[in-house]
Amino acid sequence: MKTVTVSAPGKVILAGEHAVVYGYSAIVAAIDKRMKVTVKESKKVQEYSGLVRFALELMGEDKRGWDIKIDSQIPIGSGLGSSAALATALVWAIKPAAKIEEKDKLIKEIEDFAHGKSSGVDQTIVREGGFLRFRQGKFKKITLPISRAILIDSGRPAETTGEMVGLVARGNRERQMKQIGEIVNKWTVDKISLNEKLLEQIGVVGGKAKSMIRAVEAMGGQAKICGAGGVRTGSGMILAYAQNEDKLRQLIKDKNWPHMEVKFGGKGARYEG
Ligand code: PMV
Repeated sequence: MKTVTVSAPGKVILAGEHAVVYGYSAIVAAIDKRMKVTVKESKKVQEYSGLVRFALELMGEDKRGWDIKIDSQIPIGSGLGSSAALATALVWAIKPAAKIEEKDKLIKEIEDFAHGKSSGVDQTIVREGGFLRFRQGKFKKITLPISRAILIDSGRPAETTGEMVGLVARGNRERQMKQIGEIVNKWTVDKISLNEKLLEQIGVVGGKAKSMIRAVEAMGGQAKICGAGGVRTGSGMILAYAQNEDKLRQLIKDKNWPHMEVKFGGKGARYEG
């Protein structure tokens, strides 16, 4: 029986998360960390849980036996698009003959299951790779003057993306959303701090992440959360940027913060081998 392997990249939202749910633009980059999914039909029907189970049921493939191997460099639930990468890789691997529109529709339903109402930005960057400006389901490939970044881990959020989107919806945040939209339209790395201030105002950044970000700012850098965020515990990965990278690295070392370095502009989803 044929084995199919698909790899899909993680992503970092450089600007515009949450506002993108309200129809404003976001800019987003694929990263060089990937999720690899290998599937093979098997005689035995296995029990899966969570996203994989939902995806198999949705595709009408849950009564058939599948060996599914997941190999990931993308941390789970930290704002780096692990669910979009997994949904994409699974659908592409199990439905290789389906048209791209059909695959996209299935992935959107899986993303909605994992996230609540999703804007579609994650699955679009996972499919396309590179850098995109995304708005209301439409996107444009762009280039940006930033090729890599240091991500500091403020801890996995206790909330799901869906809960964070719901929390924002309960506030009256139109002014901040509009301002975030303006940042995206004229984005430069200097706008990272302002974007973060607005994310704090809409209430998606927790205390631990805020104090880490203040420390980066105190040494002359800029930082923001880069996903849905979280307030009860961690807020996911923090995108940190400083002209003086050595100083930023020293701070991270002194504080003993978990972190990872990523390159931007990774390739989109693809069949391997
Ligand atoms: O949790 P993440 O990193 O996949 O962030 C999702 C981005 C949001 O704007 C908060 C939600 C969305 O669907 O666009």
